[in-house]
Amino acid sequence: MFKLSASLLALALVAFPANAQSPIYGQCGGQGWTGATTCASGSVCTFSNPYYSQCLPGSATTTSASSTRPTTTTTGGGSPTTTSAAPAPTDAGNPFVGYTTFLIPEYVSEVQAAVANISDATTAASAAKVAEIPVFFWMDVAAKVPTLGTYLAAANAAGGKQLVQAVIYDLPDRDCAAESSAGEFTIANGGAADYMAYIDAIAAQVQQYPNVRVVFVVEPDGLANLVTNLSVEKCANAQTTYIQLVSYAISKLQFPNVFLYLDAGHSGWLGWPANITPAAQLFAQVLKGAGSGATVRGLATDVSNYNLLRGTEDPAQSPNPNYDEELYINALAPLLTQNGFPAHFIVDPVLVLLTSVPPKVTGATSRVPVSALVHPPTLATLIDSIVWVKPPGESDGTSNSSAARYDTHCGQSDAAQPAPEAGTWFQSYFVTLVQNANPPL
Ligand code: BGC
Repeated sequence: MFKLSASLLALALVAFPANAQSPIYGQCGGQGWTGATTCASGSVCTFSNPYYSQCLPGSATTTSASSTRPTTTTTGGGSPTTTSAAPAPTDAGNPFVGYTTFLIPEYVSEVQAAVANISDATTAASAAKVAEIPVFFWMDVAAKVPTLGTYLAAANAAGGKQLVQAVIYDLPDRDCAAESSAGEFTIANGGAADYMAYIDAIAAQVQQYPNVRVVFVVEPDGLANLVTNLSVEKCANAQTTYIQLVSYAISKLQFPNVFLYLDAGHSGWLGWPANITPAAQLFAQVLKGAGSGATVRGLATDVSNYNLLRGTEDPAQSPNPNYDEELYINALAPLLTQNGFPAHFIVDPVLVLLTSVPPKVTGATSRVPVSALVHPPTLATLIDSIVWVKPPGESDGTSNSSAARYDTHCGQSDAAQPAPEAGTWFQSYFVTLVQNANPPL
């Protein structure tokens, strides 16, 4: 992955219920919703759209789902209009609405094993709660596709409205601007054909379970690398292949039960003014390449990264005006709309670098009115769900400088070390995340 260095990380939230309250990130309201309408401690029921309210982290006292907030709507890229009540229903396509998200057994086992290795009882009890929060299943090698089938079968057997979350992550010459997540396929060695077979196998699995919804994040960092890293030879060489293969994936996964979110990097990457318009154009180009009638649900941001959904200005990013995910999404949405790409998002704020939250920098005050304008409450209508894509506790790259997939970012002094290979369990990092969880688990 294209990473930022990280030392002190925190779980963005948590808390799990033994009562009728919805857990953090759970649904707590919306048309037709019959479940809990109050949220677990540390979260607040937040109006998202007429169909969906979600428990999001917050220090406010428990709030009922009936509360709404002034909402701004933007149609067709036009000027936002502010209203004082919930808008008329405009969007029934949010896949998360009314569905129960399947817990990935592989991750539950990882967390349980980690808990067994934590001697402090308080930390262990907190850590155990992480297993109750849905994460995504990463198909980072083709051999994991049958496991997707196993999970779909289990979700199907569970009955009701089940949703399985997974990541499509096996492009040839993967992670072209870094090394830490280099994959199994190479372009030079027939990797494009291998990838198409991988996608076909995924399609075959999801087709078997039409009653189970599947949300896929498609290729973290893949297209983003083509926006900013074409000076890297491996990325330049992969450009055409990435575009063709992501279009191929979209075209082959057009099923009513499947919802695709292409990865869109994060605010500190594609949020920069020079990058955001080319990014929107590239996403649209890839979608068009999937053929007429093909669609995606939207984009995923902040996967395996450390940006806050709503942050304060970060001197390290200055003068990027889109310094948090909310600003990025709000800036990106109209550009997507102009290019005919659906402006819906999921955001993965699970890894939050607490120490990166800066004090207000000099001059920030003069930008407050601007921040107020570019933080319109429309955001809620753009986000389908806050999700945990990166399973917290899994490494994002080894710090072993002699490893084949060593990436210098992982060896920097402010990176968590010693880190094992990407995707493998990183116990000390997990414990730090749990201990820094905000609000506490
Ligand atoms: C790794 C994958 C892993 C995923 C989730 C990626 O950075 O390359 O192997 O499955 O993270 O932890």
